[in-house]
Amino acid sequence: MARYRVRGGRKLEGKIRVVGAKNAILPILAAVILTRKPVVLYDFPSLADVENMLLILQSIGCQVTRENSTLILDPSGINSGVIPDRYVKEIRSSIVVLGAVLARMKKARITYPGGCEIGQRPINLHLQGLRQLGVVIDESHGYLECEASNMIGTDIHLDYPSVGATENIMLAATQAKGRTKIRNAAKEPEITDLQNFINSMGGKVYGAGSNTIVIDGVEDFHETEYTVIPDRIIAGTYLIAAAVTGSDLVVDNVNLEHIQALVNKLRETGCVVRPLNGNHTGAVRVQAPQRLRAVENTKTYPHPGFPTDMQALFMSSLTVASGTSIITENIFENRFKHVPELIRMGARIRIEGRIAVIQGVPRLKGAEVSAGDLRGGAALVLAGLNAEGETLIDNIYHIGRGYDKLDEYLRSVGADIVRLED
Ligand code: EPZ
Repeated sequence: MARYRVRGGRKLEGKIRVVGAKNAILPILAAVILTRKPVVLYDFPSLADVENMLLILQSIGCQVTRENSTLILDPSGINSGVIPDRYVKEIRSSIVVLGAVLARMKKARITYPGGCEIGQRPINLHLQGLRQLGVVIDESHGYLECEASNMIGTDIHLDYPSVGATENIMLAATQAKGRTKIRNAAKEPEITDLQNFINSMGGKVYGAGSNTIVIDGVEDFHETEYTVIPDRIIAGTYLIAAAVTGSDLVVDNVNLEHIQALVNKLRETGCVVRPLNGNHTGAVRVQAPQRLRAVENTKTYPHPGFPTDMQALFMSSLTVASGTSIITENIFENRFKHVPELIRMGARIRIEGRIAVIQGVPRLKGAEVSAGDLRGGAALVLAGLNAEGETLIDNIYHIGRGYDKLDEYLRSVGADIVRLED
C-alpha cells in the first residue's frame, strides 16, 4: 500500500493552484444524466470519487472522453436505470444519481449506500423528499426499487439541510410536473453550482444559496459547457498548510466567499489572509505568524457555518497553537479518527463526546500514523509538515478520494513530501 513520507519544518513559498471542487462535480456529473445532448466540463479534478462517478455514467450508457482536465460527455445513449452495486458501495455519495436517473428513466434500481468512516450516513431525507414528489420506492433486500412515471411538483420541508438530499430532490424535480419548493434546503456553494449547471442546460432552478429552492419542471435539456467552482476544502487545506508551517504563501483560484468561516478562524490564530488583487475570487495571500494563537471555540455547522470538512484540517494547526482550543463536531458522529494519530505525533487532545479540547504544544514530532478517512488523512499530512523529523502516513487511498496528487502540489511550494509505493 502506498504511503506518504513527510519531513517537517520546511517553510512553504510561491503559488499553489486549487482545482475544481469534488463536491460540486459529483452532483453535476449526476445532472449530466438529465440531458440527451453533449456536455463539456472544464477544470475537472482527477480523483478516485470522480472516476467512480464516471464509471457509473458509463455503466448506464453515457460516453465519456477526457482531454487533460476537460471532460466531454455524450449522455444520448443512456438507457438503463440500474446502478451497479459495486460503484454505490465504493462511494456512498453516488446516491445522488438516483434523482437524475428517475428524472431521465422514470425508474431506478440502486443498492442502499452503506455508512462510511465518518458516520452512518442515513438517506431518510432523500427518500422522504422523493416520495413527496410521487416516486414509489420499495426498500427491500438492501435495494431501492423506484418508479417515477408521474412526479408532481410539491412543497418539501427538510428536517435537516442535508446537502445530498437537497441535490437529489433538485435533480428529480427538474422533470416533475409543475413547481417544487425545497424549504430548509442546504446552502453550500456546491448547491448553487448545481443550480447554475442545471440552468445552463435549460433548467429552471432558483434560490440556491438561500434556504428555499424553487424548481420548475421542464420538457427537455440542451447541450452545455461548464466550469465547476474551485474546491473550497482544498483551498482551506493549502491555507492551513501555510498556517502550520509559519509560511507566506499564495493560493490561486480561491473564492473567498466560500471559505469565510475558515478565514475568520485563521485570522483569530494570527494569520493575515487577503485577496491578492482586491476581489473575492482569484489569488489569496496567507502570511502566518511564527506561532499560531489558540482559538477558543470552533463549532461545525451547515454552510455558512464552519464546515465539518475543515474540522480535522483546522485541528492540525491548533495542535501547535499557543494555548487551549476547543472544537465541536456537530455534523457527523464519528469524525475524530485523526485524533489518536495526532496524539501519536505529540499533540495533546482530549475528546469528550463531540468536543475536542486541544492544548497546544510548541511542535509535533514525526511518527508512523494511519489515515482513517479523507479529511482526517489530509490533516495528518498537514501535521507532518510541522513535525520535527519524519512522518509516515499509510492508507493514503483515503486521501486520493478528495485530493489529486496532494504530494506533488505541496512539493511544488517547498514541502518535503514524497509518495512511497510498496
Ligand atoms: C456532503 O455529504 C459532502 N459530500 C460531505 O463531504 C460533507 O461533509 C457533507 O455534505 C456536509 O457538508 C459530498 O458533497 C459528496 P449531508 P452529505 O446529507 O450530502 C445527516 C468530504 O469530505 N443526514 O448534509 O452526505 C447525516 O447523517 C465529504 O468531501 C440524515 O440524517 O451530507 C449527517 O449527520 C464528507 N439523513 C448530516 O445529515 C439524510 O437523509 C449531514 O449530511 C441525509 C443526511
